[in-house]
Amino acid sequence: MSDSTLAEALTEEHHAIDDGIATFTASKPGDSVQAWSTPLKQAMQALRRHIYLEEELVFPQLRNGPLMMPIMVMLGEHGEMWRRMADLDRRLAADDVDQSPRRAELIAECTTMLELLANHNSKEEPVIYPHMDADMDDGSRAFLRDFLVDGTIPDGWECARATPPEASPSDGS
Ligand SMILES: [Fe+2]
Ligand SMILES: [Fe+2]
Repeated sequence: MSDSTLAEALTEEHHAIDDGIATFTASKPGDSVQAWSTPLKQAMQALRRHIYLEEELVFPQLRNGPLMMPIMVMLGEHGEMWRRMADLDRRLAADDVDQSPRRAELIAECTTMLELLANHNSKEEPVIYPHMDADMDDGSRAFLRDFLVDGTIPDGWECARATPPEASPSDGS
């Protein structure tokens, strides 16, 4: 990764996450739960860390300027993904997760997740990512490079828009 740009490194993470989810959606009904749930869980773990590093290490460096609005859009979409991952966690923890109706529901959810990711990444990669290499300061770029190697998401961290807008405290009571 040392030879690649940050844009290339984060784009590579997008592909790895997509591949992990797609391994699950392409699995066969006879495959063991372990065989299909492991890549899915690893992809979700990777996606949570990816969202963390974008929201904590990348976006704060770039949001004062022309990228303010695109970053707001990215934050909203991260929130949607975050809530869907919480839902997937609940489904994966169900006792009957290996039964075909449950598995079919999970596949439908993951197919939607792949569509969300494709839409999100198709904007993030051309609009946001080139600015990491061009506009972030040297120290922040170095910190991000180190984080990509072995950084971990802090326990209990949630993305900025994890709570849906309609449930925000300012609304209603
Ligand atoms: Fe993102
Ligand atoms: Fe991303």
